Amino acid sequence: MPTQVTGFGGNFDRVAPVYDALSFIVFGRSLLQAQTTFLSAIPGNASILIVGGGTGMVLEQVLLQCHPRRVLYLEASARMLARASGRMLRRPLLGSVEFRLGDETALQPDERFDVIMTPFVLDLFTGQTLANTILPRLRRTLAPGGLWLVTDFVRMEKWQHQTLIGLMIAFFRLTAGIETQQLADWPKLLSEQGVTLTRSQSAVGGMVVSQVWQAATVS
Ligand SMILES: C[S@@+](CC[C@H](N)C(=O)[O-])C[C@H]1O[C@@H](n2cnc3c(N)ncnc32)[C@H](O)[C@@H]1O
Repeated sequence: MPTQVTGFGGNFDRVAPVYDALSFIVFGRSLLQAQTTFLSAIPGNASILIVGGGTGMVLEQVLLQCHPRRVLYLEASARMLARASGRMLRRPLLGSVEFRLGDETALQPDERFDVIMTPFVLDLFTGQTLANTILPRLRRTLAPGGLWLVTDFVRMEKWQHQTLIGLMIAFFRLTAGIETQQLADWPKLLSEQGVTLTRSQSAVGGMVVSQVWQAATVS
């Protein structure tokens, strides 16, 4: 199997075997629920890019609920990718999924998607990396009028939330080597990419938001 692509988002291979269990212990099912909040906004027959989907729980829901034409599952961790593809083999679902090991640099210049999903991925990067690299590269692949579904942690005033988010970032810096030391203001940076926020819902006491951003119909 090809090895993990180690970029700014770290190396999640070591964490992959325990990732879902840890997430469930801390947050229950609320992080998965948050990721599925706006799946109903995805039109049928869409081409969908899922970036950093991890072990594939959200992929299962996308295939069950959205009836896509094509899904590109882009994941930088070989172990996460293996878990996601294994999940699909165990539970055959309708739909065409390409599992691709890599990060945004593995996207072809001519690839376009009706929908991009970034579930708990933007929080791995510094504001600088998001603004200069990740967001523009992903934005280029979004078709005119396309939707960008983001689910992620957001900056909060409450010290309890700041502490929990700080602990999570410290944990992933230690175990996965992510680059960031604090949560970037990703909604602001996303708004600078020529996409407009159309829907937003909070979860986990306001620590997490699920949002739909839309590209203009003419780019
Ligand atoms: C915090 S985990 C979230 C996993 C999953 N979305 C979830 O919520 O359970 C972040 C995931 O993004 C992947 N990742 C990090 N940087 C990436 C990149 N630039 N392109 C694709 N995947 C990336 C990691 O390998 C990891 O599986």
